[in-house]
Amino acid sequence: MTKARDSVKNTFLTTALLCVICSVFVSASAVGLRSRQDLNKQLDKKKNILSVCEIDSSNGDVQRLFEDNIEARLVDLQTGSYVEQTPDSKQTASSFDFSKLAESEFKTLEEDPAGLGGRREQFEVIYVFQKGNQLVLPIRGRGLWSTLWGFLSIDANDFTTRGITFYSHAETPGLGGEVDSDAFKSQWMEENATLDADGKVIIEVAKAGQAAEGEIDGLAGATITTQGVDKLIKYWLGPDGFGPFLVGNGSKFSEVARN
Ligand SMILES: Cc1cc2nc3c(=O)[nH]c(=O)nc-3n(C[C@H](O)[C@H](O)[C@H](O)COP(=O)(O)O)c2cc1C
Repeated sequence: MTKARDSVKNTFLTTALLCVICSVFVSASAVGLRSRQDLNKQLDKKKNILSVCEIDSSNGDVQRLFEDNIEARLVDLQTGSYVEQTPDSKQTASSFDFSKLAESEFKTLEEDPAGLGGRREQFEVIYVFQKGNQLVLPIRGRGLWSTLWGFLSIDANDFTTRGITFYSHAETPGLGGEVDSDAFKSQWMEENATLDADGKVIIEVAKAGQAAEGEIDGLAGATITTQGVDKLIKYWLGPDGFGPFLVGNGSKFSEVARN
């Protein structure tokens, strides 16, 4: 009896059965937890938006703080105007999900300095923190190993920097991963000029140790990630990014906000 149970056939059968049970368990957990994961991702994004507005959410209800302070608005990047809904995927500012944009709501890029995979969405959600006079722009671009996803906060009147955060990337901890460090992020709170009077992008993220006055000092030992941040910032503030929204028709944000 013991011999039969220990047979090669039984060993394989037991292993196969265990594999099936485990895979069913893992798949069921993954599917069952997806909505909670999505919710946590949304909350993390909100936490990051609050953080670039210097709203401490560590001890508070993130959802409530977000609702009390932040207004999401949908922007047509081409025209620089606010819109209520995307034309094809019918998304609003509150329901916006980048991954659910229709293919027709992307623009093919002839030049792709930020490394966006050759295409850019036509619509984006920006966040207005009226009390702090801040505007939070979603930003992303290629580092060395990964795409960096984050938010840049700028002053709503003069567009100087107020804060930056990267909530998703896979750069090396201690090297490119320092984009997330307080030392790097605190520089963005120093109100550096981003655009000149003509709306031209003037902000520079310099190689580590080489920043001039008004520039952001890059990451030591991580020149490629640093260059990635420099390029993505210039891209998103420039004419192909939020430029038309920020300086379209020569207007300042405070005028745009009334529309
Ligand atoms: C294991 C490993 C991980 C690295 N990670 C990064 C990184 O995340 N970002 C980056 O720009 N450079 C990274 N580098 C360094 C780059 O390969 C390259 O040498 C560096 O960007 C040049 O920066 P430097 O001119 O400041 O030395 C890494 C190198 C090694 C060996």
